[in-house]
Amino acid sequence: DGFWAVVPAAGSGKRMGADKPKQYLTLAGIPLIAQTLNNILSWPRLAGIVVAIAADDTEFQKLPQASNPKVHTVAGGKERADSVLAALDYLSGVAAPDTTVLVHDAARPLVKPADIEKLLAAAPTALLAQPASDTIKQATSAEGQARVKHTLPREEIWLAQTPQKAPLELLRKCLRRGMSKSPALITDEASALELAGYQPELVAACRSNFKVTHPADLILAEALLQYQSE
Ligand code: CTP
Ligand code: MG
Repeated sequence: DGFWAVVPAAGSGKRMGADKPKQYLTLAGIPLIAQTLNNILSWPRLAGIVVAIAADDTEFQKLPQASNPKVHTVAGGKERADSVLAALDYLSGVAAPDTTVLVHDAARPLVKPADIEKLLAAAPTALLAQPASDTIKQATSAEGQARVKHTLPREEIWLAQTPQKAPLELLRKCLRRGMSKSPALITDEASALELAGYQPELVAACRSNFKVTHPADLILAEALLQYQSE
């Protein structure tokens, strides 16, 4: 009756621009990915974690979490969705077809266990998300200049986070179809489910569950992690 976590961690962190992929940068004394895995390992009813790492990764096996019996690894792929699919293919061989899977970015160390409980209690397909606080403009480009086409109604806008939840084989089928039909549209699990006609539930989550993406994000994440561990 447990659920599985899938952790895409095969990215190169271009926007961070560090000398190694951002998941291996040290935050509050511990590598970012180790912070995320420790968080996930604390979730009740977790059956196991499949981590997708880059084919040429030399860092992961040095982590203490690598030898945890609940932690399994697979080689990731070119896009995030390819990495998630590689993990789901592995899981397909060891877990039942309707197993609940939570896909969670390695780069989101600060997700709250209370939000995981809310996600697990939500509809079978669901994701954590944050109601937009900024006003969102849809843009059009005119002579190389970005111009406002229109303003989206803010009360309808949510920013997708992770984890994103779905049954194993449903998610695998939708991601595979989505990536073969319209790969540019598949930037998270929900987008693949939507293309197949599903309407995942949006579960309001804490904004501390941001994705560590740019250099300034490291400062906030480190401060929050330090504060948590006191
Ligand atoms: N990811 C992955 N496989 C890929 C690309 C991304 O497993 N081919 C993972 C990243 O490691 C990260 C998560 O997906 O944990 C979210 O992706 P993102 O924040 O975009 O990370 P990067 O792709 O590494 O960063 P960037 O886009 O700036 O290069
Ligand atoms: Mg990326």
